[in-house]
Amino acid sequence: MSRRIEIVEMAARDGLQNEKAIIPAADKIALVDLLSDCGFARIEATSFVSPKWVPQLADGAEVMAGIRRRPGISYAALVPNMKGYEAAKAAGADEVAVFLSASEGFSRANLNCSIAESIERVRPVAEAAKADRIPLRGYVSCVVQCPYDGPVEPCAVARVTGQLLRLGCHEVSLGDTIGRARPAEVAAMLDVVLAVAFPENLAGHFHDTNGLALDNIRVALDRGLSVFDASVGGLGGCPYAPGARGNVDTLAVADMLAAEGYETGLDRRKLALAAAFARRIAGKDDARRSA
Ligand code: HMG
Ligand code: MG
Repeated sequence: MSRRIEIVEMAARDGLQNEKAIIPAADKIALVDLLSDCGFARIEATSFVSPKWVPQLADGAEVMAGIRRRPGISYAALVPNMKGYEAAKAAGADEVAVFLSASEGFSRANLNCSIAESIERVRPVAEAAKADRIPLRGYVSCVVQCPYDGPVEPCAVARVTGQLLRLGCHEVSLGDTIGRARPAEVAAMLDVVLAVAFPENLAGHFHDTNGLALDNIRVALDRGLSVFDASVGGLGGCPYAPGARGNVDTLAVADMLAAEGYETGLDRRKLALAAAFARRIAGKDDARRSA
């Protein structure tokens, strides 16, 4: 039997959060509904962060209320603090995701606090999620490079990953936030992180600025990871990660995995439809996409 790999779909959150022109909630809802047809088990639908920091996703509650929830799909929301957690819970998020950085510079830029302070902000969220029995996912950003601090030591990634797991995250997604990691760097980072975490508790979150995301996924697959974040249409980026390009394209990951004999359960034709829609609402010019 072929090995099952899960792709967690990011387009509605990471994919859209960096778009300057505000996209109507109805379009975001339609995107999530299209994604719900594709075969994903988890879709990150929105975030509940400060609307001053990420205006594009200020409509998270409206999006969560408007989507047609398909049984068996977990609709996740990203939260930075208790305020976000309470909003995500009220909106019926099936999973909440907290996010930290392995580098101080990005922590300051993205969360306006140090790494140590961000862990203290996550602690009550983790306690509340446990009490409410809402699965908690964690992200670590800048696992190889930081746009502010430069190269990031693997032991810094291992340290925050361990902290997130001890706080109760069932899975920690390791983010190459600026999409510039090389496979050898990803391998070196994973070898250190895998000393504190089992591969089944890790996911890979690769942005694709340098076109090496698929190679980085292969490195992670070889080390036993079986969950990868991706975004239809290759959309994505963080407003506080200058120079970063989109998440790795879901269709490209699904095709690579299929070619290499892995099972994803995703419908290629429906992914292509969702990708075209996502790129249209984000105002992307498809003619130039593959350039
Ligand atoms: P701050 O300004 O230091 O916080 O921001 P504050 O507590 O002083 O609050 C400022 C204002 O925001 C207040 O409102 C709060 O009520 C409000 P005011 O009194 O001025 O009217 N506020 C909120 N409103 C709604 N929902 C909330 C919330 N929290 C505070 N949850 C803060 C600190 C963490 C809030 C801010 O820095 C923030 O929201 N940052 C989020 C940035 C973000 O979303 N970045 C993108 C997601 S991370 C990412 O993309 C990386 C990832 O994909 C992995 C990878 O690629 O590496 C996950
Ligand atoms: Mg990201």
